[in-house]
Amino acid sequence: MIGALVYFSSASENTARFVAGCRLQDEGLNVYRIPLKAADQPLNVREPYVIMVPTYGGGVVKKAVPIQVKRFLNDRANREWIRGVIASGNTNFGEAYCAAGDIIAAKCHVPFLYKYELMGTPEDTAAVRDGLVRFFTHQ
Ligand SMILES: Cc1cc2nc3c(=O)[nH]c(=O)nc-3n(C[C@H](O)[C@H](O)[C@H](O)COP(=O)(O)O)c2cc1C
Repeated sequence: MIGALVYFSSASENTARFVAGCRLQDEGLNVYRIPLKAADQPLNVREPYVIMVPTYGGGVVKKAVPIQVKRFLNDRANREWIRGVIASGNTNFGEAYCAAGDIIAAKCHVPFLYKYELMGTPEDTAAVRDGLVRFFTHQ
């Protein structure tokens, strides 16, 4: 495998649908989902990955990163392997649009690779799939 994508998606599953549409396993990427519920077995990743995160601050930039994603990244062993971030959101939230990507990029010192709205467009799907392959094969 050339790399991995780690993603979070809530019950509305926009991100899960977007990831499924990217068919990343066919391109040689592992795909891992951060669990939704606190009682679920925590995810441990020990290979280079890009994280994909929907923004959940309700318009408040400081609160943009979902708690489940914070828990995953607070684990130092998980954090060691992050290489980039992709964020999604809804432009209705104005300056907090996709703010989870800005926060994770700044805190983890990785590039903010791409942003898209809601479940994305076919152009977003192609850009993410091709971009991830390029990212992992050129580093
Ligand atoms: C309670 C709530 C708060 C949200 N806050 C933001 C926000 O601050 N900024 C933003 O860009 N999008 C925000 N969104 C939009 C989500 O990021 C968007 O709906 C996303 O596609 C959800 O992905 P998911 O279905 O995979 O969980 C919010 C959505 C909800 C339901």
